Amino acid sequence: MHADIVVLPGDGIGPEVATAAVAVLKSIAQLYDHDFQFQEHDIGGVAIDRHGVPLPDATTTACQQADAVLLGAVGGPKWSDPNAKVRPEQGLLAIRKALGLFANLRPVRPHGAALDASPIKPHLLAGVDIVVVRELTGGIYFGEKTRTAEAASDLCSYSVAEIERVMRSAFKLARARRGKVTSVDKANVLETSRLWRDVATRIGREEFPDVALEHQLVDSMAMHLLAKPREYDVIVTENMFGDILTDEASMLAGSLGLLPSASLGEEGKVGLYEPIHGSAPDIAGKGIANPYATILSAAMLLRHSLGLEEEAQAIERAVGAALEDKAFTADLAPPGNALSTTQATEAVLSRLGVPA
Ligand code: NAI
Ligand code: MG
Repeated sequence: MHADIVVLPGDGIGPEVATAAVAVLKSIAQLYDHDFQFQEHDIGGVAIDRHGVPLPDATTTACQQADAVLLGAVGGPKWSDPNAKVRPEQGLLAIRKALGLFANLRPVRPHGAALDASPIKPHLLAGVDIVVVRELTGGIYFGEKTRTAEAASDLCSYSVAEIERVMRSAFKLARARRGKVTSVDKANVLETSRLWRDVATRIGREEFPDVALEHQLVDSMAMHLLAKPREYDVIVTENMFGDILTDEASMLAGSLGLLPSASLGEEGKVGLYEPIHGSAPDIAGKGIANPYATILSAAMLLRHSLGLEEEAQAIERAVGAALEDKAFTADLAPPGNALSTTQATEAVLSRLGVPA
């Protein structure tokens, strides 16, 4: 098949891990006889430096016309002056909004071989298989902001329609998995959360009576996620709670560098795929970043945007096999035993062609 893929490398380790994922996609194209065309565009700090804005129009247009978008990460100390008018992260929020990417899927499936890297006891982790569905274009990240010398505010708001569509994504996903949705909110305090809970209950009752729904407050969820992670199937939550809970959930897998994500809008619309981690300025430029989260994001791209399930599984198997063989970057390896980003990528590439 032919596919146009826009690549947004971004900042910090973004270009390093994006390069790794593109290499894997190119190899898949060769193995399965596809024609993938890659087009790079600027976003984030690099776009501020080159164009004065974190999301140039040319980038938005290219993404809108693409079959799928692969993103590295944005941000870094160079652009982090709190008084700066433009910030790299605005580019990311703006592209999510422009593409209507309201559902961010973040699978968490700890791999046996990487469990030593997790601070959680191994017996709690066996069999953990969670997908967090994070609402991505509403809530406090997008609400009106005010700032005076004495005070500041960020508005959190959600419409019924915004909650309904992300709920449907979560319920559909659960239906195809183990049939359980955990909706996370703070309904004991927040009005937006009470609306969130009402809508979840109604959508569940009216449209997905076959799927079990439970509600969980976000603070106790943060605890249960570590204490009994096996109990969860699909977790659906609003933007900021999802952002925070998934960094926490990455510790189940052992490293932020292992968690991929897919950001999806209405069916048939372009999807965006990125690791859940940021630009990791502390290790940028050293060639030691873990590329697996971005490579696994590329697998999600093949699955969700191109319908290439077999190819997606080939990548997931290759990463699994690389982990099995302890092909670890520094975030996972014992000191002195780490592979570079390039070596870890090679470890995946060399296992791609191997039949299951
Ligand atoms: P971060 O996710 O960039 O890094 C947190 C820690 O995890 C660091 O110690 C880093 O070295 C490590 N880490 C992250 N990814 C890794 C990988 N692939 N391999 C090995 N280690 C990895 O979060 P942080 O430090 O809070 O933010 C840094 C910058 O990234 C900020 O400017 C932030 O705004 C931005 N950011 C961007 C995101 C995006 O582009 N989607 C998401 C989160 C943060
Ligand atoms: Mg985050």
